[in-house]
Amino acid sequence: MDEPPTEPPTFSAESYFATQPPPSTLDTDVHGVREFLARQRKQGRKVVLVTSGGTTVPLELNVVRFLDNFSAGTRGATSAEYFLKAGYAVIFMHRQFSLQPFSRHYSHSTNPFLDFLEIDSPPPPTSDAPYPYTHDPAPPAPLQPQITVTPTERIALASVLRAYKAVHEHGTLHTLTFVTVNDYLWLLRAVSQEMSVLKRNAMYYLAAAVSDFFLPRQKMSEHKIQSGKGSLHIEMDQVPKVLKPMVAEWTRDGYIVSFKLETDQTLLIPKARQALERYGHQVVIGNDLHHRKHRVVLVSPAPGSSFAKHRAGKPNNTHADGIIPTDYIESWIEIDPSPPPSAPPKEIEEDIIDELLKRHQAWVDSGAE
Ligand code: PMT
Repeated sequence: MDEPPTEPPTFSAESYFATQPPPSTLDTDVHGVREFLARQRKQGRKVVLVTSGGTTVPLELNVVRFLDNFSAGTRGATSAEYFLKAGYAVIFMHRQFSLQPFSRHYSHSTNPFLDFLEIDSPPPPTSDAPYPYTHDPAPPAPLQPQITVTPTERIALASVLRAYKAVHEHGTLHTLTFVTVNDYLWLLRAVSQEMSVLKRNAMYYLAAAVSDFFLPRQKMSEHKIQSGKGSLHIEMDQVPKVLKPMVAEWTRDGYIVSFKLETDQTLLIPKARQALERYGHQVVIGNDLHHRKHRVVLVSPAPGSSFAKHRAGKPNNTHADGIIPTDYIESWIEIDPSPPPSAPPKEIEEDIIDELLKRHQAWVDSGAE
């Protein structure tokens, strides 16, 4: 008798967290986030969680091989700077070694910092110096080399450095790292649960590129998978879509912005609408791979659609109650892809954040008693 076709194995968010172990640093990370949030609440600041970079899926417990997701972390790191500039406190949750706010300007691969430094040799010792011809036991202190910044780079560096130092002085940036999709999911849940106390003053800006498939721990080989046995067959499970519990349970009042990356531009709007219908959050930013640095589309339920009314009144209800958006607004944001060399440098994240700040404020105001 034929076996009945088996359903592809899927995890719900609940069964995922019940079976996959948390990262060993989770408690320490949560403690740090709690302290950071307490300080920001005292100062009355809005807080945004920015996720950035790609997650990995290890294939072995003693990991030698892993699958990776595309993302340099440019979107997240750049956006974090504009949120900080606007007075938000930022929890920057990023893939280890991906780009970070401020230091991103001097990435080792595209703009190596050392190329901007010059070393002025110390003057040679004068001929009448006693050392080493006397028996003086104390040699002179070595002359400190003078290091300077290339003159053409000084203005740009000073501006980055000023912003960086101000953020450190005000304590408005808190950094967390993840590597695997498992680290990411546990951290996202814990951080959004902590941030839920901020109610509408919390924003979530989910720019990370999250793996869609993973190998549950129970199915992973302990040691390096051996080659020499022909092709490798691995069956992976689907990663649960955590936006749904995030909206409905973890942080009911937060303003949630997710991203959708496609390579076919015509899919951006339908996929963004589909995400809003499925998860019931506020904004999806669609970007296509090749134009993402100068064109994006913000898709959200239209004000006045039945869904929007429902969310404004009862933030814990989503389409799960049978209510979906009836209408959408789509706002394109574009910048010149090839500006003249004389034009001041422009990053699309500046305009994205500018628009989100207005929408977040409207969200805060609409929930005020
Ligand atoms: O870093 P760069 O090189 O500048 O690139 C930036 C970017 C192109 C990666 C970024 O702008 C972007 O589009 N990120 C989202 C990529 C994507 O399509 O993600 P997704 O379809 O896997 O997920 C959609 C959204 O749901 C994301 O916001 C993600 O954080 C979230 N998600 C996804 C899966 C999952 N299990 N849980 C999630 O929370």
